[in-house]
Amino acid sequence: MNILSCFGLLLLFLSFIAVRFWKCLPWVKPKHHSQDGGCDDLKPQPIKGRERYRVMMDIRKLDTQNWLTIDKNYMAEHQVRSQLLQHEKQKVLQCLPESYEACLEALEEVVEFLCQRFPDRFVYKKCGDESTIHNKMTGETFSFGGQNNEVDPLEIAVRLTMEDLSILMKNADDEYYLAASASLFPVGWVVQDRIGWTISQLHNPVPLWHQQVATSVSKFLNRLTPSSPMERSNYFVEMKRPDEDLFETLYRPTTLLEDNPNPSPEDIVIRRERQTFRRLPRTGTLVFGVKTFLTTLDELPMEELQNLAKEVKSWPDYVGEYKGREVWGAKALEFCEKRTQPETKEKEREAEMMEV
Ligand code: HEM
Repeated sequence: MNILSCFGLLLLFLSFIAVRFWKCLPWVKPKHHSQDGGCDDLKPQPIKGRERYRVMMDIRKLDTQNWLTIDKNYMAEHQVRSQLLQHEKQKVLQCLPESYEACLEALEEVVEFLCQRFPDRFVYKKCGDESTIHNKMTGETFSFGGQNNEVDPLEIAVRLTMEDLSILMKNADDEYYLAASASLFPVGWVVQDRIGWTISQLHNPVPLWHQQVATSVSKFLNRLTPSSPMERSNYFVEMKRPDEDLFETLYRPTTLLEDNPNPSPEDIVIRRERQTFRRLPRTGTLVFGVKTFLTTLDELPMEELQNLAKEVKSWPDYVGEYKGREVWGAKALEFCEKRTQPETKEKEREAEMMEV
């Protein structure tokens, strides 16, 4: 081998190393990561401003490295989650016996994901059959696997995540049903009342669900594979009292609407859910994740405020009733108009100037 081919080989080897380990170099920041390694730049889908109401699937491919999120609200929400699991456990956590293996697999996936994605916050150790996960942010350590079956695996999973997690399994009629669920931040329902319900039963109160999406949702769930996770977003409008704390705002088991006859824009909350859908490879069951984001009306960017007003006005009465529009609608629209008026006037003035 002459000196030239040695040099060529060395170059080839160096380019292989560069490509293979590029992401590990300390000065190369991974995509979507915030300064502290969290997901603070991960936002729910903006309100689109649809002209006509329709129940939409609106699903898109999930970027797997953002399956679960950790953001600046982690500690505050973790406290609420711990409180709920301590005082309202039956209401927020239910696992049917047949879901045990699926819940364990979901926990293993959660642990693997968190330790890989946030290695500075979670530490995993395995000793024989038993595994432990240590959460450096809260100081908590959980053991699972082996003989450890005192704490439900799904409970450990949602004590680590910001997401609520549910397991969907197939019943004898080939329909997906809620086999296990840790829904700590529900909207108008509690798991205790709806465990075991099919997707179709769960959505009975939703106007136009059966006419417009039931069949597509069922096809979509059947087609999910472990390598094709998906996500979608949903929003609700919620009213709170001025003195309300985070626990009360997040945990809404009966209604979205607190008694507040004269809400200010800070008391009207846009409650968004980022929902994720994954098929677990070992048990073949589905794991459904829901991350809740809260934004008050006054914090909403102008374009979304205009889009919200457009959508709220487009809802037929029976949809408005389901969403509580009679309680917050007038105040919200008044605020939208006040905020957007100066901008509209400015645009009109600019248009007039152009004409002159
Ligand atoms: C692609 C799948 C899904 C779609 C398109 C969908 C869509 C919706 C929509 C449009 C609503 C009404 C909320 C609103 O806009 O005001 C809703 C409510 C709800 N969804 Fe889903 N959903 C899906 C999956 C699921 C799954 C997997 C669960 C399992 C836990 C679930 C549980 C619920 C519940 C409990 C409600 C509240 C119903 C009520 O008002 O009592 N959804 N969903």
